[in-house]
Amino acid sequence: MDKQNSIPFICFSFILLVLTLIPLRCGASDGGGGDDRKTYIVYLGSLPMELSSYSSLTSHHLSILRKATNNGVDDLNNDVTDSLIRSYAKSFNGFAAKLSSDQRDKMAEMEEVVSVFESRTYQTQTTRSWDFLGFTEKAARQRNSSSAESDVIVGVIDNGIWPESESFSDAGLSPVPKKWKGTCSGGKNFTCNNKIIGARVYPKDRDSARDRNGHGTHTASTIAGNIVPDVSFYGIANGTARGGFPSARIAAYVACEFDGLVCKGEDILAAFDDAISDGVDIISASLGLSDILDFLSDVIAIGSFHAMKSGILTVHSAGNNGPEIVTVASVAPWILTVGASTTDRKIIDKVVLGNDKILTGFSINGFKSNGSKFPIANTTCLEEKDTVKGKIVLCQALPAVGDNLQELGIVGVIENSRYSYPGFSDVVTLPSLKIPDEDFESVVSYTNSSESPKAEILKSEISEDKSAPITAPFSSRGPNLVVAEIVKPDISAPGVEILAAYSPFGPVSSSPEDKRSVRYIFLSGTSMACPHVSGISAYLKALHPDWSPAAIKSAILTTAKPMKKVDYWDFVGEFEHGSGLLNPLQASNPGLIYDISKDDYVAMLCNLGFNTSQIKQISGQSSPCPGTSSRDLVKNLNYPSLAAKVEPLKSFKVEFKRTVTNVGFANSTYKASLSASLNMTLTVKPEVLSFKSLNEKKSFVVNVSGKELSDYEAISSSLVWSDGTHVVRSPIVVMTRNTP
Ligand SMILES: *[C@@H]1O[C@H](CO)[C@@H](O)[C@H](O)[C@H]1NC(C)=O
Ligand SMILES: *[C@@H]1O[C@H](CO)[C@@H](O)[C@H](O)[C@H]1NC(C)=O
Ligand SMILES: *[C@@H]1O[C@H](CO)[C@@H](O)[C@H](O)[C@H]1NC(C)=O
Ligand SMILES: *[C@@H]1O[C@H](CO)[C@@H](O)[C@H](O)[C@H]1NC(C)=O
Ligand SMILES: *[C@@H]1O[C@H](CO)[C@@H](O)[C@H](O)[C@H]1NC(C)=O
Ligand SMILES: *[C@@H]1O[C@H](CO)[C@@H](O)[C@H](O)[C@H]1NC(C)=O
Ligand SMILES: *[C@@H]1O[C@H](CO)[C@@H](O)[C@H](O)[C@H]1NC(C)=O
Ligand SMILES: *[C@@H]1O[C@H](CO)[C@@H](O)[C@H](O)[C@H]1NC(C)=O
Ligand SMILES: *[C@@H]1O[C@H](CO)[C@@H](O)[C@H](O)[C@H]1NC(C)=O
Repeated sequence: MDKQNSIPFICFSFILLVLTLIPLRCGASDGGGGDDRKTYIVYLGSLPMELSSYSSLTSHHLSILRKATNNGVDDLNNDVTDSLIRSYAKSFNGFAAKLSSDQRDKMAEMEEVVSVFESRTYQTQTTRSWDFLGFTEKAARQRNSSSAESDVIVGVIDNGIWPESESFSDAGLSPVPKKWKGTCSGGKNFTCNNKIIGARVYPKDRDSARDRNGHGTHTASTIAGNIVPDVSFYGIANGTARGGFPSARIAAYVACEFDGLVCKGEDILAAFDDAISDGVDIISASLGLSDILDFLSDVIAIGSFHAMKSGILTVHSAGNNGPEIVTVASVAPWILTVGASTTDRKIIDKVVLGNDKILTGFSINGFKSNGSKFPIANTTCLEEKDTVKGKIVLCQALPAVGDNLQELGIVGVIENSRYSYPGFSDVVTLPSLKIPDEDFESVVSYTNSSESPKAEILKSEISEDKSAPITAPFSSRGPNLVVAEIVKPDISAPGVEILAAYSPFGPVSSSPEDKRSVRYIFLSGTSMACPHVSGISAYLKALHPDWSPAAIKSAILTTAKPMKKVDYWDFVGEFEHGSGLLNPLQASNPGLIYDISKDDYVAMLCNLGFNTSQIKQISGQSSPCPGTSSRDLVKNLNYPSLAAKVEPLKSFKVEFKRTVTNVGFANSTYKASLSASLNMTLTVKPEVLSFKSLNEKKSFVVNVSGKELSDYEAISSSLVWSDGTHVVRSPIVVMTRNTP
């Protein structure tokens, strides 16, 4: 497949994902309003050193607003309360306001303002998973019980939750942890329990945290849903459903309007402001943008920075803009960015023709055949609508939206997968499936030549996917456009055909005529991959309460299972799948961790060339940039993967500095091994690290050199530290460009 051919493919995958996301790049755009003012977010950095009350910060925000709207003069008679949309004053400092572009410019000039940017609309990122990861129910139970009762709280920023789902029953859970400072403000007819311990609702159009779309229920149950037996979608993939860490508690922060397609930046930032001060341990955000923004214009980067300062890890979906490269929009180093992989279980469907030929294709078809074959219409799709009643139709691609297939009396659809298979199966409205091009042509000629062509479309079944795990085509790819030295995505987790809890009001298929209601459903997307990692992060937090966000992230990255590169792009596999596939059991015992402190991230901002006064405000430190800052030092952030950008057409030499902390055995000796790589020479010094105690730190240097690379090329290798028990792996990537 070449680059050109992939373009229609991407748009198709968006159309099929329409349940939960709308393609920005396929033509959707925001509608304008009558008012020429727009909503801007004014970011002021950390909370002031002197303890200010919420109300005094808010009056400060109003004062800034008055100045910006009145030539720098703070006139108390200038009433701006209508312009102020939100005030962030619990966990960081800032506000959202309606401003004209003129006022925006005034605001940007003010010294205390770190950044002013238009609030964007984020979207949820939808499209068997724990057993595939080697994290069996038994293992999960053992681990969970060994950590006693869990006090770990995961804040889920999404579009709500369905509290009555069995996945959220609180049977057997101890009372709400004492450290919880949040509230249950789920609105009308919404009560919390010892599983869902908190709820807050931000969009103005909502009066309840009740999930009517299904996305938030799906992600939350993947993170921390109970062990629920006998779960399936119309009998398909029956088995036990469970989240990554069933004893974790959930706090639902509702930042999206009902459909999950509109999650306003100012609401997402409000969710971070509250979640941090409410006392969550992990934040999970399965929503994002198609556009790649810098750290100071992205509410998720800003919110997660302050979460990190408070010891909270933010886990975020990579986005569904693959398979094109440079599409990953989650770029900040303090975020754990998750791409989507396939699992060994795929859902297939079969059609039996009148001539007894059986063809296999893709769909999630919950309709049981009654054993009869139905006639196939000898016409192109819906060309002759009056002849299709009671028949199966053949379509090259999905019939146009707006055609009510049931109303036409169609009993089934056979589609050509060539035009619309996005790499996963979707729930269908009536018996139908997509079959490969060759098979489709054979059905066409069978129909054309047979006296009474017939077919029976069977209910879907599960099948083994031997190619797994590979990166799903829709998963957003690197390299990182904003900071080349930070490999993104960080990690991969299952995001294809994930069965999890759902809202009874959630759409079952993309057709509005589909009135079915289900408790569990299959969805695909990086939205589904993210909560797998959030659940395991919560589990690691329960096992190791003292670990920093970076330590949890390091444990997950350095223990990942290797994945195969699938893309035809002339680029490295790390840009598809990051460090590899989530490996929950190993992650709990990584041996060594690459820790990163708040000061290290701040030093990186200095090295990246952010203005010192901005960094002072962001960090809340009076002299945040000690020593000399240099762009060249960014690659020395103690990240668990190593990457550098070098000049094209020149031989290169790169030096990486890293420090590992011993969290394995007190007495241990780790030896380095470097995987052989074409065109890359690697050395590490020292080659042996001997530890005498836990939490002891040792530093080392990795030098990478090689002959010239072409203008748009990346190569990779890896460094592994092992003591015979633990295997601590870091990919090493060298590229000449990170921009298209
Ligand atoms: C609350 O919501 C549940 C679930 O939709 C419903 O069964 C129940 O009747 C509602 N109760 C009230 C008082 O509206
Ligand atoms: C799924 O259903 C089939 C048929 O009813 C049954 O044989 C099988 O044991 C079930 N599997 C699980 C995991 O419950
Ligand atoms: C299956 O359903 C069709 C349409 O409702 C009906 O004509 C046919 O007789 C049924 N076949 C069996 C075996 O029940
Ligand atoms: C259908 O059959 C006719 C006559 O046998 C043939 O001319 C025509 O090409 C066939 N069409 C297709 C689509 O196979
Ligand atoms: C199907 O339609 C084609 C023309 O569209 C025609 O050539 C062919 O004979 C038809 N086949 C049957 C079995 O009626
Ligand atoms: C930093 O940015 C602020 C606001 O944009 C500006 O006023 C100030 O002069 C800048 N400082 C430096 C050192 O560049
Ligand atoms: C570590 O090794 C040293 C020397 O071999 C020994 O004295 C010490 O007891 C060991 N410590 C542990 C915790 O095993
Ligand atoms: C290594 O370099 C040679 C020529 O210098 C080139 O032909 C080859 O493609 C390169 N290999 C990789 C993996 O980049
Ligand atoms: C790495 O490179 C630096 C700078 O070129 C050099 O001083 C150092 O000795 C090298 N270290 C190793 C392990 O090769």
